[in-house]
Amino acid sequence: MVKAVVLGAAGGIGQPLSLLLKNSHLVTELGLYDIVNTPGVAADLSHIATPAKVEGYLPPDDGLKKTLTGADIVVIPAGVPRKPGMTRDDLFKINAGIVEGLATGIATVAPKAFVLVISNPVNSTVPIVVEVFKKHGVFNPKRIFGVTTLDVVRASTFVAEILGDFKKAPDVTVPVVGGHSGVTIVPLLSQSSHPLPSDFTGDKYDALVHRIQFGGDEVVKAKDGAGSATLSMAYAGAEFAFKVIKAKNGEKGIIAPSFVHLTADAAGGEALKKEIGADLEYFSAPVELGPEGVVKINPLGKITDAEKKLIEAAVPDLSKNIQTGIAFTKKSNL
Ligand SMILES: NC(=O)c1ccc[n+]([C@@H]2O[C@H](COP(=O)([O-])OP(=O)(O)OC[C@H]3O[C@@H](n4cnc5c(N)ncnc54)[C@H](O)[C@@H]3O)[C@@H](O)[C@H]2O)c1
Repeated sequence: MVKAVVLGAAGGIGQPLSLLLKNSHLVTELGLYDIVNTPGVAADLSHIATPAKVEGYLPPDDGLKKTLTGADIVVIPAGVPRKPGMTRDDLFKINAGIVEGLATGIATVAPKAFVLVISNPVNSTVPIVVEVFKKHGVFNPKRIFGVTTLDVVRASTFVAEILGDFKKAPDVTVPVVGGHSGVTIVPLLSQSSHPLPSDFTGDKYDALVHRIQFGGDEVVKAKDGAGSATLSMAYAGAEFAFKVIKAKNGEKGIIAPSFVHLTADAAGGEALKKEIGADLEYFSAPVELGPEGVVKINPLGKITDAEKKLIEAAVPDLSKNIQTGIAFTKKSNL
């Protein structure tokens, strides 16, 4: 029995994500919460002939509490998406308070649930969730995840495209590490399950790295003011949620990159910090999942000089983004 909850369920990501969760037999109960439209979204999804019982709540009458009661996994795509011209800082100013409020609800009502943060900027919103959980004395680093799966999904798709065979896309795996915005996104293309052609170097390599790091901009630009990635993000969010649920159900050997607090596996976290040469509190690394969440933070392993440079370039931004999230919660009265 798994109760999955989506906070921000009526949004561009929230609706298709809720559909994918409802479509899965891994979910037996689906709780939907938003400040608008959730009764409608829930009624609509509830007619689909799959096992999950669906309920939707709005803020009045303790709606958040009702949604979160009994939750095993909570996915958060609530907040404002990026529009052309908007910086990550602009986004942070709006989304930080939304995420903090929702994290307070989870820490109070479902402190043992797995929390999957989609709301951007993930490098700062995950530290907000963690600080809120610490304030409530319920922090368990094994259970809080920043969802970076879209970077992994994009890397797989773009590599398959370069290999000239889209049929390969579902099988291509490329670890993407670091963080979840711009230069903090570090694809380890040398570890791709399907190697790139040997002459794929220089400008071609740089262009692919840039496309993975700034793939979100392609979508923001194409949507021309109507938001950022929603459908591919819903797919990526559901894929990661299914991995967490399968591991909770006892399936072994599930590994996926995610932005986590490095004490989730103290020994693995320390080893990773040595590898990257920086004392960061958070990093997106391939993590092995188990019934309690993170079992192991895997090392980056053998990486090229070009990838080492990308990691070096990621660290300053990552460190700043993490501190921004922590500082926000320290100042807040929630
Ligand atoms: N992690 C990623 O890879 C990734 C990718 C794309 C977008 N995002 C982020 O996901 C978030 C959502 O994007 P979207 O396109 O779905 O936006 P959207 O505006 O379409 O939907 C957001 C939803 O959140 C709801 N909401 C706002 N405040 C809320 C609150 N306090 N409680 C509950 N719900 C609330 C809104 O009513 C809306 O329905 C944004 O922060 C966006 O930047 C993350």
